Amino acid sequence: MEYAKRMTRIKESTTFKYSALARKPGVIDLTIGRTNYDTPKAIKDATKKALDEGKVHYTPTKGIPELRERIAEKLIAVNGIEGIDKEKVLVSAGAKQLIFEAVLATVNEGDTVAIPDPSWVSYESIVEFAGGMVDWLPTYPEEGFIPGERFFSALENSMPKLIFLNSPNNPTGAVYPKKVIKRIADIAARKNAWLVSDEIYEELIYEGEHFSAGSIYDKCIVVNGYSKNLSMTGWRLGYAACRDKEIIDKMNMIQEQSVSCATSFAQYGAVAAYGKDAGKETATMREDLRKRRDYLIGRLEDLDVVCVKPSGAFYAFPSFKEDDDIKLADKLIENGVATVPGSPFGSKGKGCLRLSYGASKIEELEEAVKRIERTIQ
Ligand SMILES: Cc1ncc(COP(=O)(O)O)c(C=O)c1O
Repeated sequence: MEYAKRMTRIKESTTFKYSALARKPGVIDLTIGRTNYDTPKAIKDATKKALDEGKVHYTPTKGIPELRERIAEKLIAVNGIEGIDKEKVLVSAGAKQLIFEAVLATVNEGDTVAIPDPSWVSYESIVEFAGGMVDWLPTYPEEGFIPGERFFSALENSMPKLIFLNSPNNPTGAVYPKKVIKRIADIAARKNAWLVSDEIYEELIYEGEHFSAGSIYDKCIVVNGYSKNLSMTGWRLGYAACRDKEIIDKMNMIQEQSVSCATSFAQYGAVAAYGKDAGKETATMREDLRKRRDYLIGRLEDLDVVCVKPSGAFYAFPSFKEDDDIKLADKLIENGVATVPGSPFGSKGKGCLRLSYGASKIEELEEAVKRIERTIQ
């Protein structure tokens, strides 16, 4: 069977691949990009109410106005992004769909897109699917995976149409300081490049503070959502916002001709995310995740494995002596612990594994580290 040529430019998602391999009895699953918490009750109650009230039809393609208003208020009050209103906000079926729309709306065949190395696996694939070419911007474990001089020199030498920024970062957990984000935004402005600031782990920070590039750069498309901080990965709900309304309208055109709108009752439920009850649950979860992180990092240190202490998200990204991370991840699955190999996140992930502590309690992490220890010895 002959398929469209563009299918040669899209890769299978390594994270989904290894999550599927993890679904075997007895395997401890450290692959998943989610927590083991339930969605806050206030959100579920508001969703049930919407269903009972018959809110089951198409919504405006950009999303229901009451949700977009809450999002705009939050972006102004919490992130300092002045000038946002509900017309500059687009709600969609997850942050991933919005990143797809942002790239399709801005990147031409042959355009360059600059991506920090390592980064979430989907950026590269989405860019290549759109016909773009990736310039990798290296980050290093000895610098805590925070952009340093080698990153900035690569960025200065690049002519990107779009630059990706993701803090806290998947897979490294690095939280970029404000001055680093400002420097990236300054270069983007000088090069007249779009910035996509993926802030999906914003509320899962243990040290440092979140700073949104959207507050200082008009061509910054801020992407965020509910998957991680409110344990809503299955709801498929996220949002994008930009001070430049035109880009949001272009992305909305792609939305009109694809998903039409995000699920109606999920949107009504998400309005409750802005009440104080849902926020309290995120705070409880964050403290629990911090304990898991401290435990896991401590145990990896005992094994003499090099691992930068992640300041955010729920991943550790240790580096192993075994250079072939794919072989190592496969061997680990045979030994009862599933992880994601590091090299698909970029060449700087070679020899690393991504361990998610989002969905595993400390007892499971304890057993997982024992299995890793047995495998690498
Ligand atoms: C950095 C990053 N951005 C976006 C997403 C996707 O989020 P959503 O579930 O809202 O599509 C993920 C999920 O793993 C992620 O790690």
